[in-house]
Amino acid sequence: MKVLIVGSGGREHAIAYCVSKSDRVDKIYCTPGNAGIAEYAECAPIGAMEFDKIVAFAKEKAVDLVIVGMDDPLVGGLVDELEAAGIRAFGPRKNAAILEGSKAFSKDLMKKYHIPTAAYENFTDPEAALAYLETAKFPIVLKADGLALGKGVLICNTLEEAKEGVKTIMQDKKFGSAGDEMVIEEFMTGREVSVLSFVDGNTIRTMTSAQDHKRAGDGDTGLNTGGMGTFSPSPFYTKEVEDFCNKYIYQATVDAMKAEGRPFKGVIFFGLMLTEEGPKVLEYNARFGDPEAQVVLPRMKNDIIEVAEACIDGTLDQVDLQFEDNAAVCVVLASDGYPVAYEKGYKITGLEEFKKHEGYYCFHAGTKFDKDAIVTNGGRVLGVTAKGKDLKEARANAYAAAEWVKFDNKYMRHDIGKAIDEA
Ligand code: AMP
Ligand code: GLY
Repeated sequence: MKVLIVGSGGREHAIAYCVSKSDRVDKIYCTPGNAGIAEYAECAPIGAMEFDKIVAFAKEKAVDLVIVGMDDPLVGGLVDELEAAGIRAFGPRKNAAILEGSKAFSKDLMKKYHIPTAAYENFTDPEAALAYLETAKFPIVLKADGLALGKGVLICNTLEEAKEGVKTIMQDKKFGSAGDEMVIEEFMTGREVSVLSFVDGNTIRTMTSAQDHKRAGDGDTGLNTGGMGTFSPSPFYTKEVEDFCNKYIYQATVDAMKAEGRPFKGVIFFGLMLTEEGPKVLEYNARFGDPEAQVVLPRMKNDIIEVAEACIDGTLDQVDLQFEDNAAVCVVLASDGYPVAYEKGYKITGLEEFKKHEGYYCFHAGTKFDKDAIVTNGGRVLGVTAKGKDLKEARANAYAAAEWVKFDNKYMRHDIGKAIDEA
């Protein structure tokens, strides 16, 4: 069969790698893709929000299945448009992708169906938000309702900071229309765990756990980024935590979406915080996490096409989802200066090393071809993933492999997975 992947990051590269391993697939396309994805897929320069062009491309190439990796096209309804044109697509429809597309929606859903999450209020009026803050407890968390490239969350320590935050989100519209509505939420403390899952509308199968490192600098300092590295599994995701989430969070979310007339098919990403009162949902995403996918997918034993089709067909209950009994660590190699300002266009060397070593992967996030060379083309450039028998070994392997790759303003964190020493 022919498969089209929509997206251009490390997540889509990890998806393309899994798709390439499927016996069922003989041709892979990717829009727009990147220089790493091009190893497995024929890439076409079509933007992820150019729905008409994507539909036309899928028809022209007689694509059998489209896998949408990114949040924006999912929230915008790409799956609906593909289905309307008779093309099978993996990912939630627009009315279900709202689980990620609107934080106000997801908070109300959790409240209505008693799914544990931080206490909150939603606001469409900045004056009402400001009045609420006058009597609130600090720190407090402000969240732009819509998609904001992972940047729409402000943790405010004082009333002054929070007032400034309301101005930034709702009045100055720093995140555009994502700030038309805002969630003000109780600040929680605890370890964060990401759990991705496959969902077919009724059945949910969770994948192995992972943890992201969102801040730019070592020791969780500096600005929030798209993710500087991940490890999987999380040693903090114990059997007890898993049992709790199975009972109160995972199936409850799938059932809630179904009850709302918004059956969810695709990947639900549960961003969890393990608080003293038990696990609570920080956020939902409607897709694989990035860079979580870069440590989770290489450990998956199943054929990704079979799982994706089971989600579409509603037969996920017949799938025995299995992961390798090992660990993986991903270290993101970024351009120095990310996430603020950085230079691009530097030649990358050392990529061929990954061909020589089993259990090592170099997923491209921001790269492109420049004649025969591969050059940097973004803030996050590469995700270097290595497996190991346990997290410690995987971390040592990933950091060794990170040295194979060279480019002029290479930057990485040196403490990805360090938290496992405390487990
Ligand atoms: P989100 O996009 O909702 O996952 O938020 C991004 C990050 O902000 C999370 O990964 C947490 O580190 C932090 N965060 C979000 N909500 C809260 C909260 N209620 N309490 C503490 N930290 C939070
Ligand atoms: N790594 C967090 C995300 O994909 O949203």
